[in-house]
Amino acid sequence: MASLRSVAKRLEGKVALITGGASGIGESTTRVFVEHGAKVLVADIQDELGQSLCKQLGSPESVSYTHCDVTSESYVQNAVDTAVSRYGKLDIMFNNAGIAGEAEPRLIASSLHDFKRVFDVNVLGGFLGAKHAARVMIPAKKGCILFTASIVSKISMGLSHAYTTSKHAVVGLTENLAVELGEYGIRVNCISPYAIVTPLFQKTSGVSKKEKVEEILSAAGVLEGAILEPSDIAQAALFLASDDAKYLNGVNLPVDGGYSLNNQTWKAGFP
Ligand SMILES: NC(=O)c1ccc[n+]([C@@H]2O[C@H](COP(=O)([O-])OP(=O)(O)OC[C@H]3O[C@@H](n4cnc5c(N)ncnc54)[C@H](O)[C@@H]3O)[C@@H](O)[C@H]2O)c1
Repeated sequence: MASLRSVAKRLEGKVALITGGASGIGESTTRVFVEHGAKVLVADIQDELGQSLCKQLGSPESVSYTHCDVTSESYVQNAVDTAVSRYGKLDIMFNNAGIAGEAEPRLIASSLHDFKRVFDVNVLGGFLGAKHAARVMIPAKKGCILFTASIVSKISMGLSHAYTTSKHAVVGLTENLAVELGEYGIRVNCISPYAIVTPLFQKTSGVSKKEKVEEILSAAGVLEGAILEPSDIAQAALFLASDDAKYLNGVNLPVDGGYSLNNQTWKAGFP
């Protein structure tokens, strides 16, 4: 029984820090990582949500919360140091916090303020997370750094230039870090989800009913009958963070059911 349990728990003995861990993909990943035996520090700016999630999942010895605005280096530094002082080390850094910014696809109507804000959270936030994680992972000569990119890093979905380019930057950062940090046994990968109904997506979709949004997204997808959920990204993160992915480095893993491969618009003009 004991050995079956340890096979099932794929992150036993590992310590993870998850930014944006209070909601959506981050929340789901926190649940899955705790289920799989990891000690998790949730870092977010939604304090009540983050604290109540941690309370629900276990005692502070295994899962806890810290306030961390990823755009501030001192907060990120403190979050990494808190993970190490509370749980003894840092094995997995999941740079997941992100914002969509204004839902304005037109370049000339886009604001400088929005562009900078989206880059601050989505790119600078991930850069700082990786930097401070590497600070403690390099001496340990191991570690796993993950990012949440997006399928807009592979195809144009008519979203804002700020959001789209921020996710391309996340992929560039992933690839550059994978090469630099590989020397220390640290693997760096990112995950690119298709659209999922989280608070981030729902705010920009303009449709309030979750089931309706899911129905629309599912109909637009390639995989018949499947709805992409936060837990699907959490499972991808679990795999990439686990020793099962020990030789995966510098990968941008699409979790999109094949959506980004499909372009049959050329057929439209034919009878
Ligand atoms: N939902 C989708 O369709 C989708 C698709 C592709 C990629 N993503 C990416 O997934 C990631 C998670 O988004 P989600 O969909 O779960 O949305 P979400 O809004 O549910 O979660 C995002 C979390 O990030 C936190 N956050 C925002 N700004 C922060 C900051 N400055 N410091 C710390 N935390 C901050 C929020 O408080 C929130 O808890 C984002 O990077 C997003 O771009 C989402």
